Amino acid sequence: MEPICEDKTMLATDNLRYTKIPLNNGSGAIPALGFGTLIPDPIATRIATKAALEAGFRQLDASERYRNEKEVGEAIQDVFKAGKIKREEVFIATKVWNNNHRPERVKPAFEASLKRLQLDYVDLYLIHTPFAFQPGDEQDPRDTNGSVIYDKGVTLLDTWKALERLVDEGKCKAIGLSDVSLGQVQDIFEAARIKPAVVHVESHPYLPQWDLLDYCRKNGIVFQAFAALGHSSEPNLLEDPVITTIAKRVKKTPAQVLLAWAIQRGTALLTTSKTPSRIKENFEVSTLPVDAMREIREGIKSQVRFNAVVETGIPGFIPRGK
Ligand SMILES: NC(=O)c1ccc[n+]([C@@H]2O[C@H](COP(=O)([O-])OP(=O)(O)OC[C@H]3O[C@@H](n4cnc5c(N)ncnc54)[C@H](OP(=O)(O)O)[C@@H]3O)[C@@H](O)[C@H]2O)c1
Repeated sequence: MEPICEDKTMLATDNLRYTKIPLNNGSGAIPALGFGTLIPDPIATRIATKAALEAGFRQLDASERYRNEKEVGEAIQDVFKAGKIKREEVFIATKVWNNNHRPERVKPAFEASLKRLQLDYVDLYLIHTPFAFQPGDEQDPRDTNGSVIYDKGVTLLDTWKALERLVDEGKCKAIGLSDVSLGQVQDIFEAARIKPAVVHVESHPYLPQWDLLDYCRKNGIVFQAFAALGHSSEPNLLEDPVITTIAKRVKKTPAQVLLAWAIQRGTALLTTSKTPSRIKENFEVSTLPVDAMREIREGIKSQVRFNAVVETGIPGFIPRGK
C-alpha cells in the first residue's frame, strides 16, 4: 500500500486508524492498528486492555506466554458487558508457547487460552516462536547450566498441522506464524493445507524486513509488525532525528509517525502501553505525507533487532522465571 497523502502536513483526522487488511482465511479482515498485551503486571494489563478498547483499538494480541490472558479476558468481558462493543467487532489473537509444540499438546493449550480469555473462538492463533521446548508445564525449561532445553522430536510443520485441525473444528478462524525467518515462512506456506494468514514479526524502521513484507504481499499473507515503536529499547527509535523532525513538521508525536508509517506501508502492527494517555495517543494516527514515508525509508540507515529470538531461539522481552 502506498501513502496517499500528498500534503506536507499530516491530516488532522482521517480514516487511517480504521484501516483493515483482508485475510486469506477466517474473519475477513484484520484491523491494522493493534494493541499488544505483553504487560507484566496483571492489574496494569486489565486497565490497559480496557483503555485500548475504549480508545478505539479493535485488534488485540495475547499469548499464553504472557501469563495474563485471564486479565485480558476480564477486561474484554467488562467492555462487552458495558454494551458498547460487540465480540465480533474485535479481532482477538493469542499464541501457543514453545513447551506446547507437540501436536497432542496444542489443542489443550488452545482450549486453556480460550477459557482464560472467556471466549468461544479466537480470530487468530499463532505459533509464538518456531522453537520447540521440552514438552511439559514449564514454559522456560533449562538444564543445570541454565541452557534452554529444546525438543528435537517435533517439527514446526507437525505443530502447524495441529493448528490446521483447530481451524477445521471452527474455534479458531485463522492461523499464523510468529518470530520466523523468510525461509521458515516459505517452508510452511508450501507444505500447508491451510496457508498462514498472518506472519507476526518484529518490525519498525530499524528492522523494516522489506523482503519478508514483499513475500507476504505476493502470497496474500498479512505481515504484522510487533514492537512498532521499538519496544522503548536503546537506541530509542522515538528519539531518532528523522522521526522527530517529521513529527514536528506534521504536528504529531514520534509514536504517531511510526504507527502511521507501519500502516501506510501495508502492515498490521502491534503497539503496547500501560499508560492510558499514550494508548489514546497511539490510536490518534493519521496519514503521513509521501515525502515523510520516503524520508523514513531512505533516511534511516540503522539496522537493529531488539528481540533476538529469531536468531538465538532464546526468548527476549519476557523476563525469565515468569
Ligand atoms: N511474538 C513475539 O515474540 C513478540 C515480542 C514482543 C512483542 N510482541 C507483541 O507485540 C506487542 C507490542 O510490542 P512492544 O511491547 O514491543 O510495543 P512497542 O509499542 O514497540 O513498545 C512498547 C513500549 O513503548 C512505550 N510507549 C508506548 N506508547 C508510547 C508513546 N506514545 N510514547 C512513548 N512511549 C510509548 C511503552 O511504555 P509504557 O507502557 O510505559 O507507556 C512501552 O515501554 C506486545 O504487547 C506483544 O503483544 C510479540
